[in-house]
Amino acid sequence: MPCSSHTRNPFTAIETPAVGVTVENLSKSFGDHVVLHDVSFSVEPGEIFVLMGPSGTGKSVLLKHIVGLEAPSSGRVLVNGHDALAKETREQVRMAMVFQSGALFNSLTVYDNLALYPREHRVSNEAGIREKVMHALQILSLEDTAQKFPSELSGGMKKRVAIARALVMEPQLMLYDEPTSELDPVMSATISEIIASLKDEYHVTTLVVSHDRDLALNIADRVGIMMDGRLIFLGTPAELREPKDAQVAGFLYPKIDLKHPRFKKLET
Ligand SMILES: Nc1ncnc2c1ncn2[C@@H]1O[C@H](COP(=O)(O)OP(=O)(O)OP(=O)(O)O)[C@@H](O)[C@H]1O
Ligand SMILES: [Mg+2]
Repeated sequence: MPCSSHTRNPFTAIETPAVGVTVENLSKSFGDHVVLHDVSFSVEPGEIFVLMGPSGTGKSVLLKHIVGLEAPSSGRVLVNGHDALAKETREQVRMAMVFQSGALFNSLTVYDNLALYPREHRVSNEAGIREKVMHALQILSLEDTAQKFPSELSGGMKKRVAIARALVMEPQLMLYDEPTSELDPVMSATISEIIASLKDEYHVTTLVVSHDRDLALNIADRVGIMMDGRLIFLGTPAELREPKDAQVAGFLYPKIDLKHPRFKKLET
């Protein structure tokens, strides 16, 4: 459950009120294609909410509504009580999104990738920026990579750099799109721990979109499951361990029938 009503700045220890997200009867269509059907849920200030669901079910489209990159066809999304599309919302609430790809600038070193936002927003002088960047790298155990280019890093390191870059923005709200995809189980567990510790230490409100069942069961305060653009489950990890709904159970604990005709050609 939410652990604090305040987000602590990782660099100054200054506390600001934690923000919440409310998704209200959100529907979204692209032409005739209805992607989101009347989705409603909220992310409480200071909690980790994990949103799961099969590929193509509208999870990334939903995240884009929260950061104001998509407009609802109907319904609305509120961040800290204000419309996610309003310019003032983005000015008042510091939110950071960690993209699946990492979205790092390949021509910049890790250090310069992290320094980009504070330099552009002139948050402090270069010495102050250096302190923030090195602190964020230290939190993610990445001090040795500062002068490396993204192409010199492993997939897991790039994910951690993307998280460190988001952290430099001193977010009250962190959004992660598939932070553990393409990672081995050990690295996935490490990233899950990092996400949980950012919440525990700094009380950052966190929304994670993920296919990773272990991540959801281990770090979520609450979990939502989407299927065909609808929210079909909203509950705690404890409730997910013994799902009562057949669709939810089928998604989380799929049974593979090796005798199914689709596997016939594999037999020799
Ligand atoms: N800008 C767009 N224009 C038209 N269709 C779109 C657009 N963005 C997304 N879609 C469609 O919306 C549907 C949901 O896409 P989305 O990326 O949200 O899926 P997802 O649940 O994140 O899947 P995955 O788990 O594979 O990342 C897909 O059918 C996609 O083709
Ligand atoms: Mg997606």
